[in-house]
Amino acid sequence: MSLLAGARVDNLAPSLAEYMAENRGFVDEALDRYVPGAHNEPRLLHEAMRYSLFAGGKRLRPILAIASFEIVGDSNYGVMPLAAALECVHTYSLIHDDLPAMDDDDLRRGKPTSHKKYGEAVAILAGDALITLAFEILSSPEFTRMFPHGRVLAVIRDVAQASGSTGLIAGQVWDMWFEGRVADEQAVNRIILNKTGALIRSSLTSGARLAGANLPQLKIFSIYGEKLGMAFQIRDDLLDLEGDTERLGKNVQKDVKRGKATYPSLFGADKARNMIDNLLSEAANAIEPLGKRADTLRLLTEYIGQRMN
Ligand code: IPE
Ligand code: IPE
Ligand code: MG
Ligand code: MG
Ligand code: MG
Repeated sequence: MSLLAGARVDNLAPSLAEYMAENRGFVDEALDRYVPGAHNEPRLLHEAMRYSLFAGGKRLRPILAIASFEIVGDSNYGVMPLAAALECVHTYSLIHDDLPAMDDDDLRRGKPTSHKKYGEAVAILAGDALITLAFEILSSPEFTRMFPHGRVLAVIRDVAQASGSTGLIAGQVWDMWFEGRVADEQAVNRIILNKTGALIRSSLTSGARLAGANLPQLKIFSIYGEKLGMAFQIRDDLLDLEGDTERLGKNVQKDVKRGKATYPSLFGADKARNMIDNLLSEAANAIEPLGKRADTLRLLTEYIGQRMN
């Protein structure tokens, strides 16, 4: 696959398909610029970072950041480093999520997982290097000189908190802890809100912050992101149950085998689908005050409920 080919994304409205394809190209260009080439020492490490990054993800988090930045700021000028940084955080989280000590998965983005290809040590280190790189990008002069410094600092804090021990990593801890244990709705909510909702919400709020959003606007993006992120994860859980490996690029029916606490495992697939619909209508309500400017997010909201990969 060429470096800029990106992933196929199924079930998109035509104008959203175009929007996503174009922005995936921009994000991939930015990533290619920021991640040291595979000829740089240590070569195997840089090769492994690039292997996972360019295996073909949907680039959803970068696209959400670009969309919220455009809604508040009217252009996409200056947002690509943030978009690239968010994808570095996300890709690190996938590499570590797949490790034998966690979900023990063999297939990711249609290819062998990082530890299958490079061994566990390099996979762990490639993940470490990607999360570190994210914050190097966000503090690079190329990025920081384009915006008021206070704004940049608020963006860095937003992404750091979402990625850290009270966000994504908290969710991963609870996800692992509840494997094979009885969970209730509150526990599952806590898991998905953190492991997936936190970074998706932060993609929206950090994009909006960077464009200079005021507090009421930030609140809107925060609520929207939280609802969208939860719906996104429940859809992921349904696709694990009902989707197919070729389309998803990852093995299916792993959650039941591992005894993961998910909406479908707790309430069944139909209730999980209802829950997604409810969350997505709450998300759509949250962005009502933004009017027509938020139409891209409306299309994205619809897509999240129907996505097949
Ligand atoms: C997978 O995320 C992990 C979850 C949070 C469910 P994505 O479905 O966005 O994966 P890529 O980036 O497209 O591979
Ligand atoms: C992953 O959730 C969440 C993060 C990586 C933070 P899952 O474990 O359900 O994601 P997949 O199904 O492996 O992509
Ligand atoms: Mg997991
Ligand atoms: Mg997993
Ligand atoms: Mg999953």
